[in-house]
Amino acid sequence: MIRKLISGLALLIVAMASVSAATQQLTPSEEIFLQGHWPEVMPPQGSPPADYSLLERSLSPASCGQCHPQQLLDWSASLHSKAMGPGIYGQLVDMVESDPATTRICWSCHTPLAEQQEKLWSSITDGGSWLANRQFDAALQRNGLVCAACHVRQRQLFGPVRSTTPEITGKIDQGLPHNGFSAETAFSKSGFCRGCHQFGPDDYRLNGKLIENTYNEWKESRYPAQGVQCQSCHMPKRRHLWRGIHDPDMVKQGVTISIDLPGKQLHPDDTLTATITIANTGTGHYFPTYLTPKVFVRARLIDAAGNPVEGTAQEAIIGREATLDLSQELYDTRIPPGDLVAIGYQQVVTQKNLSLKVEVIVEPDHFYARFYRSVLANGGSSDKGRVLLEQALKDAEQSSFSIYETVKPL
Ligand code: HEC
Ligand code: HEC
Ligand code: HEC
Ligand code: HEC
Ligand code: HEC
Repeated sequence: MIRKLISGLALLIVAMASVSAATQQLTPSEEIFLQGHWPEVMPPQGSPPADYSLLERSLSPASCGQCHPQQLLDWSASLHSKAMGPGIYGQLVDMVESDPATTRICWSCHTPLAEQQEKLWSSITDGGSWLANRQFDAALQRNGLVCAACHVRQRQLFGPVRSTTPEITGKIDQGLPHNGFSAETAFSKSGFCRGCHQFGPDDYRLNGKLIENTYNEWKESRYPAQGVQCQSCHMPKRRHLWRGIHDPDMVKQGVTISIDLPGKQLHPDDTLTATITIANTGTGHYFPTYLTPKVFVRARLIDAAGNPVEGTAQEAIIGREATLDLSQELYDTRIPPGDLVAIGYQQVVTQKNLSLKVEVIVEPDHFYARFYRSVLANGGSSDKGRVLLEQALKDAEQSSFSIYETVKPL
């Protein structure tokens, strides 16, 4: 039997450091650049300059990768390249017809280029209407969050300042391919990620808290004052890795787990009181930041042969749980940066030679798996949508992994 500790008093959130940095992170000119770079609706790129080669005209990641192979390799392994995977595509194949306005909101983060969107809103027609987009490129849409979505506007390239000559900002053009590029300091700041990883103040709140609040969580942590940006952890040395909750090594880097047992040896009929501590020591925002993953902390007694002792399993869950329709928050046990949770395990010892076994399991797609299951059960999608969502469900169910396992003799 699994006893849920979540509702008890055993799970305490202890404030360790409450350093709050009010440091202004973006300069006014960076703020203006970002507002122009990330409009709510991206205008089409327009026709390429006449002197562009075929390669330079292409917006596809494979073309950029001809000259930037390391970025292509890294990006391809990242979730940004899967931003139009079966989980979202399986919903949008139907939604694009039934509700293009909502679909466009999804596109704005998952496939932001106009060329990745099959419909455009035209205000030229009477009262406005959705028109088929003649520039729509279905293959580019399936590529998800492509290089050009972050780097190309009106056919012009934008990137960070060169590491070699950081003092040079603005247009750099010395006969380089794609007419050079514009060097912008904002590329190296957290603000660059904000548009998609932070909801606006007027967006939907659940229990008073935004559904996506990663940038603000970071801003209130000690990291801005230390000059640690999203890129410092997610794009080390400018690598396009973006590893997160789906990557075991990344998650391990983010937390410190320890177990405290009583100093003296325990005998049958003694009560074991152990404390499992999980500290957010290396995550730049809440651990985890979204309401989609869950982290399960499981403890139980095992005997000398390694067999579990009946009735001793206990579980605590770290995460933010909501109902599927997001109308209600059920609990929120995420750990703010610098804080920790102390989970108490109490159990009467019944035999000799017992050990405490503790495991920490991450289910990165916990919410999505439940969501896909429910959509499939309600038969709310077309044949094409259903096949995609079945694939998404399978992927979500297979994405869990362990980050910690230990056995401590009592
Ligand atoms: C024909 C080769 C070629 C192609 C194709 C190409 N690039 Fe480049 N790119 C270059 C070269 C060369 C530079 C200049 C690097 C330098 O001098 O710092 C550059 C510079 C850049 C920079 C600026 C780097 C910095 O230091 O900020 C970015 C960003 C960039 N390219 C992205 C892209 C993207 C995105 C695509 C596809 C839409 C692309 N490139 C296609 C060759 C190419
Ligand atoms: C145009 C929108 C957009 C921008 C800009 C953006 N992201 Fe993302 N990011 C996404 C989407 C959408 C996903 C989810 C992809 C998927 O799985 O469908 C994602 C996924 C991620 C993940 C993986 C999360 C996981 O579950 O493991 C990380 C890490 C991440 N982004 C970090 C960043 C950082 C750092 C920046 C800024 C340098 C950034 N992103 C900029 C849209 C964006
Ligand atoms: C503000 C940006 C934003 C918007 C708008 C947005 N998403 Fe996402 N979406 C993300 C990010 C970031 C992630 C990755 C974080 C996570 O794992 O929850 C994500 C993950 C997902 C995933 C799970 C990963 C995958 O690709 O299977 C699905 C499904 C999804 N979004 C569907 C949608 C749908 C449908 C809409 C429109 C109703 C939408 N999203 C609108 C940013 C956004
Ligand atoms: C989610 C947005 C995003 C996507 C998608 C993206 N990049 Fe970048 N790229 C960035 C950011 C941000 C930086 C700067 C990171 C920093 O300064 O720490 C960068 C830096 C670069 C640089 C300069 C690297 C250096 O060492 O100076 C190049 C070149 C580049 N990107 C090319 C690409 C190519 C090619 C792709 C697709 C295969 C791509 N990018 C996809 C956001 C993105
Ligand atoms: C000090 C390092 C650090 C900084 C700074 C940081 N992150 Fe993370 N991030 C992590 C680690 C470690 C994980 C894996 C553990 C987790 O998911 O909480 C992670 C996970 C994520 C995820 C996965 C989804 C989830 O629910 O956790 C996203 C998305 C993400 N980060 C985006 C960002 C963005 C955007 C910023 C900047 C506003 C940022 N991160 C700043 C270390 C960092």
